[in-house]
Amino acid sequence: MIGSLRNLLLVTLTGWTVMAGCGGEKAQEAKSQLDIVGGSSVSSSLYNQYFTSIVSLQYGGQHFCGGTLVASNKVVTAAHCLADFSSSQIRNNLRIVIGARDLRSTSGAERFSVSSYSINSRYNASRSQNDTATITLNGSSSHTPVEINQSASFPAVGSTVYVAGWGSTYEGGYGTSVLKYTAVKTVSNSSCAQAYGSDIYDGNICAYASGTDSCQGDSGGPLYTYDGEKMTLVGIVSWGNGCARQGYPGVYARTSYFNF
Ligand code: ARG
Repeated sequence: MIGSLRNLLLVTLTGWTVMAGCGGEKAQEAKSQLDIVGGSSVSSSLYNQYFTSIVSLQYGGQHFCGGTLVASNKVVTAAHCLADFSSSQIRNNLRIVIGARDLRSTSGAERFSVSSYSINSRYNASRSQNDTATITLNGSSSHTPVEINQSASFPAVGSTVYVAGWGSTYEGGYGTSVLKYTAVKTVSNSSCAQAYGSDIYDGNICAYASGTDSCQGDSGGPLYTYDGEKMTLVGIVSWGNGCARQGYPGVYARTSYFNF
């Protein structure tokens, strides 16, 4: 309850709008229940220890998607985050904010623009497949990039994975200014296909936990494993049926399926 109130307060203070172009969204109706996305706000110490590779993609000063730093000058995100912008909008107006836990206080954060970008040429918007893109920054970040998992057999089904972002704290709701994260468990692609049908393919990894999920505005951001030492990028937030609906996993692009 206290968590719900705090989130409400935060979104009232900042209140960014989820931009159109969240092509992966398959929600039909919004629910009014609060805080169904669950999870926790990332504290400064958690942030500094685990989450500094997450980036905020911003347009006109507004967060619209997440991303992950995978080399000092390279970010991976979702294709659907970039697909509805023109190339001049991307080159001139997109900003990549790195090192900001709270999007209201970004004075110490790095801010880059796009030197070049690449949307997966096999991106299929109607099936939300191959939903990956990379951005080359116009400079080098001082933050430590995360390793991209390239092993198809990792993580095992049932593994605990972590997703983070500034996206909606409940289906249909506003985003949050302070980064949130939650723990979910990977499910097999065949059980994910029982929820979603044949749109699920080898390039997806699905993850589920009752009452908690990624949501609109988290797209493009990281799904990580943690081995007790370091975070590894295993997925990219892509789509779902609403957010945290019973029986519907979050669907992610599976990093091992792609060359970045
Ligand atoms: N397409 C959404 C976005 O652009 C992400 C949706 C993730 N949904 C989910 N239920 N995990 O932000």
